[in-house]
Amino acid sequence: MDVNAERFLKDLHDLRSFGASGVVKGVVRPAYSDADIAARQWLAGRMEEAGLTVRIDPVGSVWGLAEGPSILLGSHSDSQPEGGWLDGALGVIAALEIARAAQEAGGPAVSVVSFQDEEGRFGVTTGSAVWGGNLELAKADGLMDRDGITFGAARAKMADLAGEFVDPTRFTGFIEMHIEQGPWLDQAGQAVGVVTDIVGIRDMKITFRGEQNHAGTTPMHLRRDAFQGLNAFATRINEDFRNVVTPQTVWTIGHVSLHPNASSIVPGRVTFSMQWRDGDADRLARMEAIIRTAAQEIADSRGLEVEFGPMLGLEPVAMDNVLRAALAKSAATVAPGKWREMPSGALHDATNVARHLPVAMLFVPSINGISHDFAEDTDEADLVTGLKVLAGAVASLRP
Ligand code: GLV
Ligand code: MN
Ligand code: MN
Repeated sequence: MDVNAERFLKDLHDLRSFGASGVVKGVVRPAYSDADIAARQWLAGRMEEAGLTVRIDPVGSVWGLAEGPSILLGSHSDSQPEGGWLDGALGVIAALEIARAAQEAGGPAVSVVSFQDEEGRFGVTTGSAVWGGNLELAKADGLMDRDGITFGAARAKMADLAGEFVDPTRFTGFIEMHIEQGPWLDQAGQAVGVVTDIVGIRDMKITFRGEQNHAGTTPMHLRRDAFQGLNAFATRINEDFRNVVTPQTVWTIGHVSLHPNASSIVPGRVTFSMQWRDGDADRLARMEAIIRTAAQEIADSRGLEVEFGPMLGLEPVAMDNVLRAALAKSAATVAPGKWREMPSGALHDATNVARHLPVAMLFVPSINGISHDFAEDTDEADLVTGLKVLAGAVASLRP
């Protein structure tokens, strides 16, 4: 199968024009934004031109379906609030190009997907989590973004376009190409990573409530300052995690909403995101216990109340041996001495798809390891190398 590198790069750049930030190559294309919906409609058109049957499912994931049993390739086309042009988009456009190239070569049958809300405006990989059965649709509908908009209300924006969910039994497996989003391939000067497994994640919102008051007149010993509670909590968990975590474990307080968020008011309330990731589900559970205990003890000692929101989570997932071996073999042919096997610290739709199908992933380098930032980029030669590795693997799986 001969992929067309020019056609692939042109589509990738065309997709970037939806929600282009104007800052380097970045995009602002969060799930269900006008830019995201326009990009999905453009993608549906490209799929149709490629001879695929388009289906937009009830959550807004866009599918290009080949006839009969097929291998499914793809990723997501929504972005972070400040996103890079390749995160997700690369896997979708690589899938489209391979579907076209496979048709030109007389097979195999390749279907394409762009899942919705992988970047978690509402949850964690929401679109594929619903399709994969990791999250009930009714529960997803109640999830709120940081402005209080529900997933149910947001997906209604695409209701006119929506058909049924796609039956997973029509697919034989799923391969997702993605940028690494970390430093390892770039630092080693390697072009391709074949993924061994994807970490698990836990994500919850925590709220401390204290007492809002005047910042000039309220003596320090009488304050019930919600921000100081968060400050103590962030320091305390770093200490308490020390004997539990490994160098691969990560945790992040990435979003903080302070009320009323004014210089002269002792903050009465803070709600913040608490996210942690590791390849071992037991370790994730031990970290959860530490988080809950630390938050409760800090609240008790400072006259605060603590409230834990619902916890979202995805389990660690190992890649399928057959698909992974096909990628490794293709990598050894296309990029000899310039590839490695590696785990994924980022979350991916493949985690949810694994509930239905054998899954595998391949990575290409991220320059300076930067992602979830407008500055995210990859050398175009590496993008094309990754495309060729994926094409070689798909061709080898031909029955
Ligand atoms: C997905 O982008 C993640 O947060 O890993
Ligand atoms: Mn992604
Ligand atoms: Mn991402």
